[in-house]
Formats: sequence, structure tokens, C-alpha cells
Amino acid sequence: MTTAENAPPPRWYGRRGGHRLRKGRRERLERLLPALRLAPPEPDGTVDLAAAFGAPPSDVWLEVGFGAGEHLAAQAGAHPGTAMVGCEPYVAGVASLLSIIEREGLTNIRIFNDDARLLLGSLPEASIGRVFVLFPDPWPKTRHHKRRFIAPGTLNALARVMKDGAELRFATDHMGYVRWTLDHTIRNPAFAWLARRPGDWRRRPPDGVETRYERKAAGLGLASVHLGFCRRSRVRAD
Ligand SMILES: C[S@@+](CC[C@H](N)C(=O)[O-])C[C@H]1O[C@@H](n2cnc3c(N)ncnc32)[C@H](O)[C@@H]1O
Repeated sequence: MTTAENAPPPRWYGRRGGHRLRKGRRERLERLLPALRLAPPEPDGTVDLAAAFGAPPSDVWLEVGFGAGEHLAAQAGAHPGTAMVGCEPYVAGVASLLSIIEREGLTNIRIFNDDARLLLGSLPEASIGRVFVLFPDPWPKTRHHKRRFIAPGTLNALARVMKDGAELRFATDHMGYVRWTLDHTIRNPAFAWLARRPGDWRRRPPDGVETRYERKAAGLGLASVHLGFCRRSRVRAD
């Protein structure tokens, strides 16, 4: 029988490799990644965030699928006291983030170079203050919707690791994925949509940073939607 404990790891459908990395990028990856990499968690183990960052972090933000890393690096630069964990299995994306880290001397980023779903179960409960899921792969065909990152199991895993009041930021240019995400978050009692005014969702948050995919979408004349959700308090008010 499959239980939560012996469930197989989630299947990965995206790309990890791609074009061969240029020599400089490969060399940077080999030189910098070992020290900045969050090791794959032991089964049933909990990631020691204090050990990973060299001191207990006052807050930890998580980006799932950081792509080329420009958003994560900008957030790390703007919030040097916050520990940033970025997840990205695509090796060229990791190499690109490492070059920004080196150029800008950023010290508050650690990298999980694999499927974020493999990390979520091992992060301490209520340890994450903000989560970014920006322009995730939309998997537009109906038969592929189950590959989407936003799914009941992932939302439950995020709800466990997020602190009360933590924010989940989601963005996409795919209107089907907007409806899907609202549908799934509305059904999950841990999340509340933060939209205050009609049109809130049309604007990137004031402290947000344009990502490569957002720029690409704008270039194609596609509008992007930005959704913010709050992790509700675990202590019920009634
Ligand atoms: C469409 S790209 C967007 C990249 C970036 N966020 C941006 O806006 O430019 C989606 C990225 O998410 C990554 N990704 C997809 N599923 C993931 C998962 N389960 N864990 C971590 N990264 C994931 C892919 O490798 C890809 O780089």
C-alpha cells in the first residue's frame, strides 16, 4: 500500500540539461555550487537551515523555479538579512544565478538544484516567511494539468512549511493557470487571497522584480497576473 511515508518521489517532467555549458560557466558551477548547495534531504530528515546559512536565519524566503535567478538575486540584494533558498533543477539556470551571486557578492542565497517538491517535506514546519512561484510551467494541455506545480499536495506541503501570515506570491501569463490556482487555493483552508481592490492582480507587487518570463510575455503582448495569498493563522480565532 502507498502511504505518505513510502510514496515514490514525484515525477519530474521539465528539463535539467540542455546545451552544453560554456567552459567558464561549468567552471563556476564546479567551484561555487558545492558550498551553496542545500544537500538533498535524508528520508524523514529535516533540513538544518541554521547550519546551511551559518547562523539561525531571522527569516527564510523560498523561490520555486528561479529560472535564470534574476528575481532571487534582486530579492537577496534588497534584503541582505533574509536567507533565500532557491530551487531550480535546470543546470543552466543554476549557472546563471551563480554568476550573479559572484558578481554581486551575495552571501544569503542557498540553492536546491532539484525539484522543490523533494525539499518541501524536509523543511522545518513554519520556517518560511515568503514563497515565490513566478511563471511556473503552465502545462496547457488538459492531460498535463496534473504536472502543474500548484496542486493540492504541494499547497498542503507549502502550508506546513510557511509561517502564519507568510505570503505566497504567484505570477503567470496563462489565464488557465490563474483560474486553476484560484480554484485550488480557495479550496485550501490554509490560504487567503490578498487582493484588496479589483485590478490588484494586474500589478506586480511594488517590491517585485520583473523576471525573464514576465519580460518575454510582455514582449508578446501578453498580460501577466500576480496573485498573493496569506498563510492563515494556525490558531483559530473562534
Ligand atoms: C517557465 S520557467 C520560469 C522561470 C522564472 N521563474 C521566470 O519567471 O523567468 C519555469 C521554471 O521552473 C522550473 N521548475 C519547474 N518545476 C519545478 C519544481 N517542481 N521545482 C523547482 N523548479 C521547477 C523549471 O525548470 C523552469 O526553470
